[in-house]
Amino acid sequence: MAIKTAVSRLSLFPITAEVNKQGHLVIGGGDTVALAAEFGTPLYVFDEASLRAQCAEFKMEFGQRYTEISVVYAGKAFLNKALALILKEEGLGLDVVSGGEMSIARAIDFPFDKVYFHGNNKSAEELNMALEWRVGRIVIDNFEELTRLSERAREKGRVPDILLRLTPGIDPHTHKYISTGVVDSKFGFTLATWEEVVAQVISAPDLNLVGLGFHLGSLIFEIEPYREAIGRVLDFAAEMKRKHGFEMQELDIGGGFAVQYTLDAPTPPISSYAEVIATTINDKCQELKLALPRLVVEPGRAIVGRAGVVLYRIGAAKEIPGVRRYVFVDGGMADNIRPALYAARYEAVVANKMLLEETGKVTIAGKFCESGDILISDISLPPVTAGDILAMADCGAYCLAMASNYNASLKSAVVLVKDDKARLIRRRETFEDLGRCDVV
Ligand SMILES: Cc1ncc(COP(=O)(O)O)c(C=O)c1O
Repeated sequence: MAIKTAVSRLSLFPITAEVNKQGHLVIGGGDTVALAAEFGTPLYVFDEASLRAQCAEFKMEFGQRYTEISVVYAGKAFLNKALALILKEEGLGLDVVSGGEMSIARAIDFPFDKVYFHGNNKSAEELNMALEWRVGRIVIDNFEELTRLSERAREKGRVPDILLRLTPGIDPHTHKYISTGVVDSKFGFTLATWEEVVAQVISAPDLNLVGLGFHLGSLIFEIEPYREAIGRVLDFAAEMKRKHGFEMQELDIGGGFAVQYTLDAPTPPISSYAEVIATTINDKCQELKLALPRLVVEPGRAIVGRAGVVLYRIGAAKEIPGVRRYVFVDGGMADNIRPALYAARYEAVVANKMLLEETGKVTIAGKFCESGDILISDISLPPVTAGDILAMADCGAYCLAMASNYNASLKSAVVLVKDDKARLIRRRETFEDLGRCDVV
């Protein structure tokens, strides 16, 4: 009988993942054990080939099924300058939700006509930035924001292109913390106000209503909610055309495309989402006699999730006889809050023992002062000892982006690997960084 090793989990790692002669995990040609030694741990490693392949797949799968598409990366999943440069080269747009994300885009001269500015509480300063830097679309989330933007636009003599974010009242069956299209959501215009806001914006001379959008939530494994939401919004667009002469030029269906985090939770391929989404829009627009709008898709997790791997060094272990064995790593909830926040599940391998037989289950715990700082419960691994390197798969999205300095910890370094070369794209924080904003 074949022995069970970490090789079975390789499919969850970046597309370049392989095992070398020493039995080490290799990503983008880089031996992860050597990377951990060179750059220290915790270390986030992004595989450039995986990033570019995901960008290309979205462009191809949607592009071959629909006339006009924009793939807009949702920067909240993870954003830094090097990544933004890759997205720029790949021709993607960028979804930002803050002045900070806008400033990263600006720092690398990202084309601002491809920037979509989302968020449920954009400040006056952020709206000013968006107007001054001429973002492509401002996605309006509520009535107050509408008034605030109108005032700013008038002051500056600009007529911004806007989308309205609608809340379609559809449950995408994901964790409630990442479900955004349901009736009881802080985001978007609630169904009862859809017509009121369209009528108001259409008659506003200082705003140009380009289209409508929604975002159902994140990590959506089902495709049906997209069909339902698109149907609902297109029916509404047709009604608004009849009643108010509104011509929808753009339909933004948000992101949410799932990523496979564990072997027991496969996801639909991007082609399946694209097929349903494109077919629904094509058919429905024909039925309703609507001109086909430009389709905007906003994947975040699906672009960066699998491309990112985190390397931790194992420090100690604790056996509770008859209960469980804990293995402690040098990171945890400060660099990856997802397991503690919404019970996210992950798989991992011991990067320096890829070919050894898995002998028993352990629980991977972080080093932070919370009992809930558990990264993975009950995972089968080979015997581990202090100094081993644990590599966790699918850590590209919503890990570093949500990282904190809890326990005054230092945020991790990030490297980009490609063709056997590793390039530091974010240096590790230092103790000086920690004190930089303190005033005594
Ligand atoms: C408006 C909008 N678009 C896109 C996304 C990206 O979602 P995901 O990373 O699941 O693709 C989000 C995430 O919350 C969002 O709020």
